[in-house]
Amino acid sequence: MSAPTSRRDPERRWRLDGARTFVTGGTKGIGRAIVDMMLDRGARVFTTARDGEVLAARLDEWRTLGDAHGVTSDVSRDEDRAAVVEAVADHFDGELDVLINNVGTNVRKPLVDYEGSEIAHIFDTNLHSAVDLCRRCFDLLTRSDRAASVVSVLSVAGLTHVRSGAPYGMTKSALVQLTRNLAVEWAPHGIRVNAVAPWYTRTPLVEGVLSDPEYRAEVLARTPMDRIAEPEEVAAAVVFLSMPAASYVTGHCLAVDGGFLINGY
Ligand SMILES: NC(=O)c1ccc[n+]([C@@H]2O[C@H](COP(=O)([O-])OP(=O)(O)OC[C@H]3O[C@@H](n4cnc5c(N)ncnc54)[C@H](OP(=O)(O)O)[C@@H]3O)[C@@H](O)[C@H]2O)c1
Repeated sequence: MSAPTSRRDPERRWRLDGARTFVTGGTKGIGRAIVDMMLDRGARVFTTARDGEVLAARLDEWRTLGDAHGVTSDVSRDEDRAAVVEAVADHFDGELDVLINNVGTNVRKPLVDYEGSEIAHIFDTNLHSAVDLCRRCFDLLTRSDRAASVVSVLSVAGLTHVRSGAPYGMTKSALVQLTRNLAVEWAPHGIRVNAVAPWYTRTPLVEGVLSDPEYRAEVLARTPMDRIAEPEEVAAAVVFLSMPAASYVTGHCLAVDGGFLINGY
């Protein structure tokens, strides 16, 4: 496979002009920052979330920045995933350049305290949604007329133990392996597959746990950079991996963690 033509065009390597991009969970937190940055780099963005009012408000803001569209869906549900991918295909005339699997949720407690339904919900939301969306978007990505790319938002909890509860860590860890397998399977189709693994990031998902001053202090004590990430710092890694600038990077999981993972004793 030949190198992309933008290899010799420094301006285009750092832009996503016209890239048809599907971001799950784009209305809040890290997903919102990803949509903002994708639009800033020139991408056309389609997003989805469950809350229609918040989605409508975001779309109003984004339309002043660029080409943004979205529909409500719950990607933990198979029928919603089928419908949202159909809507993406309609919107982008059967082609897709970038898929960002960002949706994730958590309930944290000791393993024996979970109800089976809670574990199933974490698996459906974090793992099954991303696996199924990759499968459903494959044909659209193969029709991309540029190097297509998938980026999933994982977590350091998929790479080491953190106090997030076992099911969450298991889903994120399984997605590391999905990333590696698809990177190899899909390279002949011109599709790169990567992931990012954030540590604590200032979003609604972790507002509750970080509002406990003792817990926050313990988190910071384990973080060499001594602060929580901003959503834009995670989004920047996701957008980089989607760009022509990352044209030879595939199967990689990039930690965005202020040094947490390399912090031995
Ligand atoms: N924040 C952190 O410290 C942190 C650290 C490591 C990894 N992560 C990962 O980063 C990703 C984003 O997390 P975040 O902190 O930005 O979360 P967040 O603040 O809770 O935002 C999640 C976004 O996804 C949407 N969403 C949630 N469940 C959905 C579903 N079933 N179907 C469709 N949309 C759904 C939400 O909108 P609706 O509620 O309207 O659906 C929202 O737009 C997740 O995969 C998370 O595991 C986060």
